[in-house]
Amino acid sequence: MNILTNAQIVTLAANNSFGLIAEGTIVIDDGKIAWVGPAGDLPDAYQVGETIDLKGRLVTPALIDCHSHIVFGGNRAAEFEQRLNGASYEEIAVAGGGIMSTVTATRAASEAALLADALTRVDALIAEGVSLIEIKSGYGLDMDTEIKMLRVARQIGTRRAVKIKTTFLGAHATPTEYKGRPDAYIDEVCIPTLRAAHTLGLVDAVDGFCEGIAFDADQITRVFDVATELGLPVKLHAEQLSNIGGAQLAAKYGALSADHLEYATDADARALADAGTVAVILPGAFYTLREPQAPPIQAFRDHGVQMALATDCNPGSSPLASPLLVMNMACTLFRMTPLEALLGVTAHAAQALGETQSGRIIAGNHADLCVWNAEHPVELAYRIGFNPLHARITQGVL
Ligand code: NIG
Ligand code: FE
Repeated sequence: MNILTNAQIVTLAANNSFGLIAEGTIVIDDGKIAWVGPAGDLPDAYQVGETIDLKGRLVTPALIDCHSHIVFGGNRAAEFEQRLNGASYEEIAVAGGGIMSTVTATRAASEAALLADALTRVDALIAEGVSLIEIKSGYGLDMDTEIKMLRVARQIGTRRAVKIKTTFLGAHATPTEYKGRPDAYIDEVCIPTLRAAHTLGLVDAVDGFCEGIAFDADQITRVFDVATELGLPVKLHAEQLSNIGGAQLAAKYGALSADHLEYATDADARALADAGTVAVILPGAFYTLREPQAPPIQAFRDHGVQMALATDCNPGSSPLASPLLVMNMACTLFRMTPLEALLGVTAHAAQALGETQSGRIIAGNHADLCVWNAEHPVELAYRIGFNPLHARITQGVL
């Protein structure tokens, strides 16, 4: 048993407040939170074990990055320059760049090189207190490379003290060899690869890119039907650049999350709320693509949609590995509140991954915690380019 004393605890026990305990104690047993509360209320039974004095520091749940494409080959700095010279993300994609250029680099990279490269970005997340990362495939678009990506993603969890959830994103783009034949790609490559990856035990969830430059709702439906048959939860990149019915489709399938959502409507927000689907807001992609339309945050609030935040770490639309900057961007760009931002990278991110025992400091949850050199949780979203993390506790281990 470990006892954390003299902590200012941000429990996030409920969604309407930080749930602050000014002089709090947390008891950790076997990787779980055994007890949390004001220091004076600590029952005798828990007053055994090693005590760690946090000297009044702030303790929050560890951060969660619930949407990343952190495993990939190469980079797209050249496209960054092209966009600065006026080319759009869609134009670059249609011309065979964009996702396809990363596919070429990822196919060519060895598993060891992909892992080493990804770990540099994973370490940036860990340095800001992340203990759970969702990682998508989708830069392989053939059976071997999709499976290679998922294997690399899982290896990250053995190289670092971080939990990994893998998402199959075969329906990310139509590869060059299937150009003009997206239906054939879905049926001949994407779905058989999903089945194979699932058989290998490499898939925790299934995602797709529902967009004009990617796949339409009918094509995603075929992938989701197989996911459902395999008992896998789904999520969807929806309404990022236009509205083509992705949010409604995600809601229809009871998706864990619908992600991006800049072009979602009020009716979409209602459907997501009814389905209990989390809206994952991705300020990094919005910022990088200089997207003119913000996601409908107020509609999500009005309908009671839970909002998560993530880096969307990828080489094209969001070359970003800082959850703290994501929190700041969500507040400054979208007028989310600092409380919404913190819930977005903790409790609601956990919900977007179907992880019910993470993201809040309550008895029974995993003891994944961050200790910050800060006096109030609003500080976490307030500063830019400043990392106040003092320590990270994962599965009860400092
Ligand atoms: O989440 N929207 C689709 N997928 C990624 C971008 C991938 C890329 O450009 O490489 C995203 O933004
Ligand atoms: Fe994405």
